[in-house]
Amino acid sequence: MSYFMLAVGCTIGIGYMLRNLLVRGKRCKSKAKLHGKTVIVTGSNTGIGKTTAICLARRGARVILACRNKQRGEVAVAEVKEGSSSSEVVFMQLDLGSLSSVRSFAENFLTAEPRLDLLINNAGLFRHGRTEDGLGMMFGVNHIGHFLLTNLLLERLNACGPSRVVTVASVGHNLGKIDFNCLNTHKALGTGTSPLKAVQMYNASKLCNVLFTHELAKRLQGTKVTCYSLHPGAINSDIGRNWSKVFKAFKPFTAFFFKNTEEGAQTTLHCALQEGIEGLSGKYFSNCTVKDVYPKAKDDVAAKKLWELSERLSGLV
Ligand SMILES: NC(=O)c1ccc[n+]([C@@H]2O[C@H](COP(=O)([O-])OP(=O)(O)OC[C@H]3O[C@@H](n4cnc5c(N)ncnc54)[C@H](OP(=O)(O)O)[C@@H]3O)[C@@H](O)[C@H]2O)c1
Ligand SMILES: *[C@@H]1O[C@H](CO)[C@@H](O)[C@H](O)[C@H]1NC(C)=O
Ligand SMILES: *[C@@H]1O[C@H](CO)[C@@H](O)[C@H](O)[C@H]1NC(C)=O
Ligand SMILES: *[C@@H]1O[C@H](CO)[C@@H](O)[C@H](O)[C@H]1NC(C)=O
Repeated sequence: MSYFMLAVGCTIGIGYMLRNLLVRGKRCKSKAKLHGKTVIVTGSNTGIGKTTAICLARRGARVILACRNKQRGEVAVAEVKEGSSSSEVVFMQLDLGSLSSVRSFAENFLTAEPRLDLLINNAGLFRHGRTEDGLGMMFGVNHIGHFLLTNLLLERLNACGPSRVVTVASVGHNLGKIDFNCLNTHKALGTGTSPLKAVQMYNASKLCNVLFTHELAKRLQGTKVTCYSLHPGAINSDIGRNWSKVFKAFKPFTAFFFKNTEEGAQTTLHCALQEGIEGLSGKYFSNCTVKDVYPKAKDDVAAKKLWELSERLSGLV
């Protein structure tokens, strides 16, 4: 019996060590405090967004939870307050799948709040469909919504600089392909409804996040705003909710081999807080480290083309 216990103990111990070695990743080392600063985190009612919000509130920031559902948003406000022992936590309704919602969020925010120091474009989804405005769902929410939101808030960010825009992309962008013909004809990154198509469109939407950040950095040269994109790691979150059968089967596996949301928030925090990375504006980070990307993810021509198309599709121009 005691040998059995020893074997179990060793297995747990070795498993724990392996997990720390292979899964956990680096932590954000900045000690920055954020008293008097205001941050927006999109999609912060669950997943890494909620944990990011808690970590920023703990450092003293006033945190705006920009979420699409009022009920879930209000529950998250209570959780973020409790998790951070801060009362400076506010819900403001934002549905990134609706251009009019993005516009009214920006208006409400700019009227109600005097400052903006950090914009964390974190929300993202992985499912088929169309947005309210007829854009492909993943293109519309993951990219266009954040594109419009960022542009509407840039003046305020600049007025409060030094300030930052942090966009949560994914390592999946490496395999993404942007089909501009399809974007022009279907306002979507692809057609079809299979799971494979979904992954392709998701990866392409994340390539949009990286190219958006690349182009934004150029346009921000000479201002007090810098920007970064990142891969948070493979995280045990709610992102697979619409593929429940497949994802549920893997839950025990992902709980061990994927990061938890606290580990998954570290690279976002690094990009938001780390002192001295301003010279890396426009770059992509993973595991709290700047990483080089494939030529297609820093392609000046594609980035400009995507920017101009996004201006039209978001109604910015
Ligand atoms: N999980 C991973 O392994 C992984 C890997 C690489 C990158 N990422 C990226 O990390 C980010 C956060 O993902 P997560 O894993 O934390 O996922 P999650 O648990 O599913 O959280 C996603 C958040 O985005 C919100 N959201 C979805 N559609 C929205 C919309 N139309 N308007 C406003 N908010 C919306 C969700 O709100 P609701 O609750 O209302 O749906 C939720 O708060 C995403 O950008 C994702 O692509 C995740
Ligand atoms: C993160 O980087 C550290 C140090 O560079 C390395 O030891 C670790 O294996 C990396 N972790 C992950 C999950 O990539
Ligand atoms: C999407 O990206 C992930 C992560 O890099 C990769 O494993 C997957 O094969 C990609 N899928 C497609 C269809 O591009
Ligand atoms: C996605 O999942 C959510 C929550 O489980 C559900 O409310 C929604 O109807 C699903 N959407 C689609 C398109 O399957």
